[in-house]
Amino acid sequence: MESGLSARDRVGVQDFLLLDNYTSEAAFIENLRRRYKENLIYTYIGSVLVSVNPYRELEIYSKQHMERYRGVNFYEISPHIYALADNSYRAVRTERKDQCILISGESGAGKTEASKKVLQYYTTMCPTRNNTQSIRERLLQSTPVLEAFGNAKTLRNDNSSRFGKYMDVQFDYKGAPIGGHILNYLLEKSRVVHQNHGERNFHIFYQLLESGDGALLKRLGLDRTNPQQYHYLVKGNCPRVSSISDKNSWKVVSKAFTVIGFNEEEVEELLKVVASVLHLGNTQFGEDEYGETHLTTEMPIKYVSELLGVEGSYLSEALTHKKIVAKGEEMIGPLSLEQAVSARDALAKAIYGRTFTWLVQKINQSLDEVYYTSKCSSVIGLLDIYGFEVFQNNSFEQFCINYCNEKLQQLFIELTLKSEQEEYEAEGIGWETVEYFNNKIICDLVEEKFKGIIAILDEECLRPGDACDLTFLEKLEDRLGGHAHFVTHKLANGKIRKAVGREEFRLLHYAGEVNYNINGFLDKNNDLLYRNLKEVMCQSSNQIMKECFQTDELTDQRRPETAATQFKLSLAKLMDILMSKQPSYIRCIKPNDAKQPGRFEEVLVRHQVKYLGLMENLRVRRAGFAYRRSFEAFLQRYKPLCPDTWPNWQGKLSDGVSTLVKHLDYKAEEYKLGRSKIFIRFPKTLFLTEDALELKKPTIGEREKRCVILIHDYITSSVIMIQSWWRGVKGRRRAKRRRQAADTIRNLIKGFILRNEPRCPDNEYFLDHVRFSFLMTIKRNLPKSVLDRTWPRPPPSLTEASVHLHRLCIRNLVNDYCRKIQPEWRNQLEQKVVASGIFRGQKDNYPQSVPRLFVGTRLENEEINLKVRQTLGTDNKYGVVVTKYDRHGFRARPRQLLLMGSGVILVQESKIKQRIDYSSLLGISVSSLSDGFFILHVPPADSKQKGDLVLQCDHVIEAVTKLAVMADKIHSVNISQDSIKFAIARGKEGVIDFTYGAELRVVKTKNGHLAVVRIIQSHTKPINHLDKILSL
Ligand SMILES: Nc1ncnc2c1ncn2[C@@H]1O[C@H](COP(=O)(O)OP(=O)(O)O)[C@@H](O)[C@H]1O
Ligand SMILES: [Mg+2]
Repeated sequence: MESGLSARDRVGVQDFLLLDNYTSEAAFIENLRRRYKENLIYTYIGSVLVSVNPYRELEIYSKQHMERYRGVNFYEISPHIYALADNSYRAVRTERKDQCILISGESGAGKTEASKKVLQYYTTMCPTRNNTQSIRERLLQSTPVLEAFGNAKTLRNDNSSRFGKYMDVQFDYKGAPIGGHILNYLLEKSRVVHQNHGERNFHIFYQLLESGDGALLKRLGLDRTNPQQYHYLVKGNCPRVSSISDKNSWKVVSKAFTVIGFNEEEVEELLKVVASVLHLGNTQFGEDEYGETHLTTEMPIKYVSELLGVEGSYLSEALTHKKIVAKGEEMIGPLSLEQAVSARDALAKAIYGRTFTWLVQKINQSLDEVYYTSKCSSVIGLLDIYGFEVFQNNSFEQFCINYCNEKLQQLFIELTLKSEQEEYEAEGIGWETVEYFNNKIICDLVEEKFKGIIAILDEECLRPGDACDLTFLEKLEDRLGGHAHFVTHKLANGKIRKAVGREEFRLLHYAGEVNYNINGFLDKNNDLLYRNLKEVMCQSSNQIMKECFQTDELTDQRRPETAATQFKLSLAKLMDILMSKQPSYIRCIKPNDAKQPGRFEEVLVRHQVKYLGLMENLRVRRAGFAYRRSFEAFLQRYKPLCPDTWPNWQGKLSDGVSTLVKHLDYKAEEYKLGRSKIFIRFPKTLFLTEDALELKKPTIGEREKRCVILIHDYITSSVIMIQSWWRGVKGRRRAKRRRQAADTIRNLIKGFILRNEPRCPDNEYFLDHVRFSFLMTIKRNLPKSVLDRTWPRPPPSLTEASVHLHRLCIRNLVNDYCRKIQPEWRNQLEQKVVASGIFRGQKDNYPQSVPRLFVGTRLENEEINLKVRQTLGTDNKYGVVVTKYDRHGFRARPRQLLLMGSGVILVQESKIKQRIDYSSLLGISVSSLSDGFFILHVPPADSKQKGDLVLQCDHVIEAVTKLAVMADKIHSVNISQDSIKFAIARGKEGVIDFTYGAELRVVKTKNGHLAVVRIIQSHTKPINHLDKILSL
């Protein structure tokens, strides 16, 4: 407000509260006009924003503009819708209190545009969370979809909303928009079947026909070439409008569907419903010679039944007959031609109306994921609802709309008065009673139980017998005659009687008088759809229709609420919602009917100022004081006007304001000081103060110049002081670092010299450093695997620790390795470990055996004679080919040695030659040389045995290891250097001598011994991984 005080002569006041003559409607309108001419479309009445439709794009809605209004107080900057949006948003963030913004005004005044601007502000300026980006998009994109289905071109507005909309935008505790919810009110369904001249049906029909692609239209049975053929689109005789691009809108709507989350099938189902309405409109009826109504067109009904998935014949029947259920019996009767047409229209309206509600619910599903669950959130509600309407001919719709405005006005007055009163109380200023017109009497006239117009209308709709619109009017006259706000032709006298038609009743609304024509009231209120049409729709296979027409409706015995009662109930709910929130108001005004920029028609504006209750509002706000401002803001602005408060007031703010106004010579009746605000009664007082400020400004300039020089000097010296202080700090820091570095070096040198001494204060730093670096070196160079033997060289003082650490580390790696090995490999290693325990360092050919893997068996099943197998069964664990030497003659004989579960078997082809149970095996002997001999010792007294077995095998290490393991004789393997004695039957002994020689030989010597001559072998080194592991 302050920002415009100085420009008030040219552009009027930014806040009507500052109008001198606040009771004058002319002054009010003149202020609006002046500002409008300068393209200043916004003006405040306190915190209410009045907006005049500019009918042109103004450069005031950019992102920069939004930023200018962020976090700024109302009065600091020129009025704007963003200021109001920001104010509500800040209240949500700081007070966490739900807000609502009520936008009202007549059709075409700019309500919907205003609500879009507010939404745009929130989606652009509020912080985002990762997942809130899509919610912003969905919030924004819900508008084009709802506009396509709920808006239409009317005489007043090319994009007129034909439904009321209340939208909650939900914010989380950080102020990011996280969801929303939409409530819709009373769609003007009659438009689906009828449009006044110059008006159109809902946009979606034209968008689909104009831009739906060829294949889609074919599927829907529609023809783009001739839109005039659709009866429901030609009533207004206005297919195209220059300001509307159906093509572009179609693109926008198609994209919006995707953003909101409709899939292709859902869109197609929806468009099928739209197309079916058009086809329904083309369904025509005729009468035959017996007066029976029948369908004269075939195709449209075929399309409808196809698109909605209903039985064609069933639908045709339902359109020409009606079913009545009386006393449990169903009766079917023919419809007259007129009734059939209205049944068809009722069906079209019901289909479209319910689909619209379905659409709102579907959009809500995509917006309100968290709406009902999120606790730490607040909402801002946006109400864009039809304004007060007065036409030449007003019907049921206008009656509902004006009743709605009557309710909103009541709320507005109540809440404005309430907030005024609260502010006065908070500031400790006595409340002065304000005279105002309370429109409760009119609300009661319409809605009161049993007595109100809606109750009478319902009564007439429900009454059996010859109830009609005229009987309704008579009843109204009967019951309401004498009410101060109700008149009819019959009740009125003289001049007024002439102005009210015989089929009209007049209501004296707070905003003015409106005559309502009673024709159609009963039908519209009943909003009836014949039962058999409902039955047909309940069987539809179209997914949307399935949700819109449910069989419960057929079985429900209760009569559905009438349209007016439904509306009354939904309004009552809306009032509760609004009452629970802190309201802000945008009052939209339409400057001319021709939708032309720059044209300000006073008569039209005066009418709106009246019915928007703006003068009433201003009077209430001005009844006490015209201007109020916090002490701080007031002092800040006007402190140059008093030497005691300039340049700064050091004491309490209220004392400062008090000193200031005394100096300005304010009279006691001109102002009051509250607890935190000053209240100024007359704008004139404020203007005089403002003028004084203007006069003072040049001298403030002189003084300011001097101040600037002083400040400059002061700043320069401060800068120098800060610089020198900072240099000092930096120098001290550098010196400290240098000192620390020298100490470190000194410690290290001293420690190095004394490094071999016991730990003492002089070397402890060095030793710690050495230990730390060695540990860090180990950490960086740890062995990578069990075979990696590298290890950093430790400093002398850490040799012992290093050995321990190395061992720990290897053990750890080995543990790791063991944990990871597979069962077969583990088995292999276990056997190898046993072999190593027995043979390592004992037998010459052991090293060669190490790299060779032990196998499960050396004899495949087929290599063992079948008979033997049958005899022994499956107990065979290991088999190997051996040479058996006779105990006496030492003749070599080929045999198979089988290790069974319980003993060793020697086999010659099909014969089992010998069996030694493990329990009776005394031991096993082998030589230390590289031969393959091994002797199995049995007890000499064992009568079953013929003596010890002398065997030779190419896999002696493997065979003996396995045998030792299986027989549990690991510790009974003897390794002899030169000779091995063995028992021959009957207490005799044989001897095998093992010697080295030039060639390999096995011979019987003269002394009866068996001589085994081996060639000398060089020791082979372990050669692979396995060797290394075993040699660890
Ligand atoms: N702030 C604005 N700036 C530019 N044009 C506007 C503005 N407000 C309204 N209009 C114009 O007026 C038309 C009607 O506005 P709209 O919001 O649809 O009216 P209402 O919802 O009150 O019936 C819009 O289509 C637009 O052309
Ligand atoms: Mg609108």
